[in-house]
Parts: sequence; structure tokens; C-alpha cells
Amino acid sequence: MNQNDILKKIDENLQGGTTKYFQAPENTKKVYIESYGCQMNINDSEIVASILLKQGFNTTDNLDEADLVLINTCSIREKAETTVRNRLKHFNKLKKNKPQTRIGLMGCMAERLKEKILEEEQLVDLVVGPDAYRDLPNLINELEDGRKAVNVLLSKDETYADIEPVRLNSNSVSAFVSITRGCDNMCTFCVVPFTRGRERSRNPESILHEIEVLQDKGFKEVTLLGQNVDSYLWYGGGLKKDFDKQPEEIKKNAVDFAALLDMVATRFPGMRIRFSTSNPQDFSLNVIKTMAKHPNIAKHIHLPVQSGSDRILKLMNRKHTVAQYKKTIDAIRKYIPDVAISHDMIAGFSTETEEDHQATLDLMDYVKYDFGFMFAYSVRPGTLGAKKLSDDVPHHVKLRRLREIIDKQQEHSLYRMQQFIGKQVEVLIEDNSKKSDKHWMGRNSQNAVVIFEKTGKEKPGDLVQVTINDCTSATLFGELMN
Ligand code: SAH
Ligand code: F3S
Repeated sequence: MNQNDILKKIDENLQGGTTKYFQAPENTKKVYIESYGCQMNINDSEIVASILLKQGFNTTDNLDEADLVLINTCSIREKAETTVRNRLKHFNKLKKNKPQTRIGLMGCMAERLKEKILEEEQLVDLVVGPDAYRDLPNLINELEDGRKAVNVLLSKDETYADIEPVRLNSNSVSAFVSITRGCDNMCTFCVVPFTRGRERSRNPESILHEIEVLQDKGFKEVTLLGQNVDSYLWYGGGLKKDFDKQPEEIKKNAVDFAALLDMVATRFPGMRIRFSTSNPQDFSLNVIKTMAKHPNIAKHIHLPVQSGSDRILKLMNRKHTVAQYKKTIDAIRKYIPDVAISHDMIAGFSTETEEDHQATLDLMDYVKYDFGFMFAYSVRPGTLGAKKLSDDVPHHVKLRRLREIIDKQQEHSLYRMQQFIGKQVEVLIEDNSKKSDKHWMGRNSQNAVVIFEKTGKEKPGDLVQVTINDCTSATLFGELMN
């Protein structure tokens, strides 16, 4: 069986809708991949699975039968790294029972710690950074020679544009499509620019092609992914920061995020389009207008603000004020009245006072976010926050402020969910409900989870109308309309 046949076989598997892991019959080796952290990591694992598939590896969810174990790691907060270190301890036993198993770290921890991790974690054989996955076949050869292998080079133009991800653990309804890699923003708390390198965008043709393949396989929803999708800019390849040096002719033909979104939504009217994440400084009126124009672009914007205090935003090197952020929120609500807005918030950043914290709570009251991801500040080595600022908010104060932020968010989430009661919403069915296989779980356009009873006629991937009759702060409950 040649590679094309293998890929065809995988497509056939996918159309069944239930296959969790893909097996190419000729492949004799097995890789077990575990992903931590962001959606980008999940998508990167799918890219790695695709690269390894061509090297004779099938994916497995059974650790004991794996020849290669890969852990796709996260460095965003200290806790994320501790989780991975604890998990590694578990693999000690595995390696004792089966010494030939090779263990690799990929992702942000691999990039941040580089060779050092080989000394700190003796059982690790392979360290590979986010821009070096194409080198995995060579690195694995080195392992087979009994050596340890490391590649943590960052790249100016790698976007894995031509690699068709193997959709792991997929519901065959919704998939991630990466559109940018890296980040140039240098927020002072954030390790991402160091672990994922400078920002670059992916060729729009390859994005459209990937979505087309997904559509052909029956997928109904894509999420366009990037650290900062609104800063997407395709001018023929290369770093975003080199755009200004390009000749006028090239600049004129560049594709920005609003244009890409318009292209995707126009070309795939039957697909629901999501995107994440938006940095408020790059979020443009054109994107809002594009969203308002296309019913198939989901009415949800993840617009992390991190703090409601101008002084803290400045220290964080965020490039907007609270007033500008509020103006963006107002513009979004004007053009897309029923939009859902979510956030990320950091409690207890360097020098944060009670007044700054109160300003965050006040901003939350202004926006009344639909949901949010909330964190206590965790200093990351190498960032400006670690080098130039003090981590001077006591731990218990950070936690108390975080609690207040979370409590407020719960109130607002409940308020937003209650607005759907009595209304009819369009739901894309994703899977069985976790709690009962007599119920479906899906999401509405605003990204709220909706649970409703099955009638036997509908299936995952169907868009159905559901009348909402109850809710919690996290879930809507309803009844299918006939
Ligand atoms: N632009 C990225 C942001 C990545 S980090 C994206 O695509 O989502 C996700 C969130 O983690 C950030 O928005 C921030 O709220 C939080 N975060 C990042 N660094 C942090 C740190 N050092 N301590 C606490 N939270 C942090
Ligand atoms: Fe991090 Fe700020 Fe970029 S949060 S990923 S440096 S936009």
C-alpha cells in the first residue's frame, strides 16, 4: 500500500465518524501522543501524527504497546510544567517494564528548556520544539542508533502548510486549522514568543485546501487558530515583522485576517467558522463587519483583556487602554447584537493594587462576558515580567482576587445563559452528552453547550433547532424542534 492509499484508507475510516485512532495496515510501529495546553498544541499533535504516519507509526491510545511516547507540553504557567513533570514520573515504570520505549517531549517546554531537560529528566530521549516537527524522521533515526536527539530550532517560515493533519480523537464534526504561528507581541507575562518564535502566516490557498478536505470528509465546523489571528497577514511567506520592507506591489496584494475570513466564509457556506484568539489591539472593524455579513461565522469572539486597569495593561505591554477596549466591545455589539464575548484575565500581576483589581471587576461588569478563562499570575523565566518586574502580590492575595473574578464571571455566565431561555437556537450536534447517551451535546453559534434529548432521527454533524427551557452557568438544556 503506498502513501496515497494509506491516506485514502484514513479518509474512509473518518467517514465512519467513530474511529478514534487511525491505523495504516502496513505500519508496524506505534506512537502514543498526549497533549497539554492550548488548541494549537492539539493541532500540532495532529500534524506530528501525520508526519509519523509516513514513517511507519500508527497512533495508539494504549501506552503499553507504544514504541514511542510523545508528550506535547505547555509552559504558559508554572503549574502546566509541573503537571508534565509529574506525568513523566509515571513513565518511569513504563520504561522499567519496556526499556526499548522511547520518550519524547515536544512543544513549549521542549523549546524553553532545550537540552537541559535531558539532564533534569533522565528518561527523556527526544526533545523537539514547535518549529522542528518536520525533522522528526531524522531525530527518530538518531534514537534508533541509541543516541538522544534534540532539535529546538525556531523558524522564519515554517507553517506546516502542506501537511494534512491526522485528526486524533476527533468527533468528525469540528476541527482546528492553524493559520498563524508564533507571536510578536511580547506581553511581559507571556512565554509564548520565546517558545513559539516570531509571527508568520500561512498561505491562504493551503488553508482553503485543508478546509475543503475537511468538508469532503463531512466536517461541519472549523476553528481558525493562531496566538493572535487578527494579526494574520499573508504576503508570500516570511515573518510578519518583515512585511514593511516589502515592495509596494507585494504589500498591495497582501491578505489580512478580515479578507481571509471573508474568503473562508464565502467558499464554505455549509461550514460554521470559528477563530481564536483575538488580541484587542489587532481586532478591526473590518473583521466585525465580515462577521456581521456571514451567517456561517459563529457569533463568538474570544477577546482576552487580562486586566481592567490601564496602569497594569501598560506594565503588561498590552497595546490598548481600557477605554479603547470598551469602544471595541461597543462596536462589536452594535454590528452583532447577539454576539458572545469571552475573555482571559490574570489576577495579581506585578504591583497590582486593590484599586487595579477593582478596575478589572468594573470592566467585567461593563462587558458581562459570556465566559472566561481566569488565572493567578505565574512568573515565567525569561520574560520581561521575570527580568524587570517584581512578583510582589502575595500568593493568598492573588488567589482571593482570582476567586472574586471567578465568582463575578459565574454570575455573568448565568445571566448570559438565562437570556437564551424560551428562545430557539441553532445547534451543531457534536457527540453524545457526557452524562447520558440518550442525550446529544452540541453548541450554538455563541459557543454555549446545549444538551437535549435524542429522537433517533438526528446525528452528529446535523444543524438542528432547539428550544431552550433551562440552564446552569455553563450549560443550556432544551428540546428538539420538529
Ligand atoms: N494569544 C494566546 C494567549 C496564550 S496564553 C492565545 O492564543 O490564547 C492564554 C492565556 O493564558 C493568556 O491570555 C493569559 O490570560 C494567560 N497567561 C499567559 N501567561 C500567563 C502567566 N504568566 N500567568 C498567568 N496567566 C498567563
Ligand atoms: Fe502571549 Fe501576548 Fe502573544 S499573551 S501569545 S505574547 S499576544
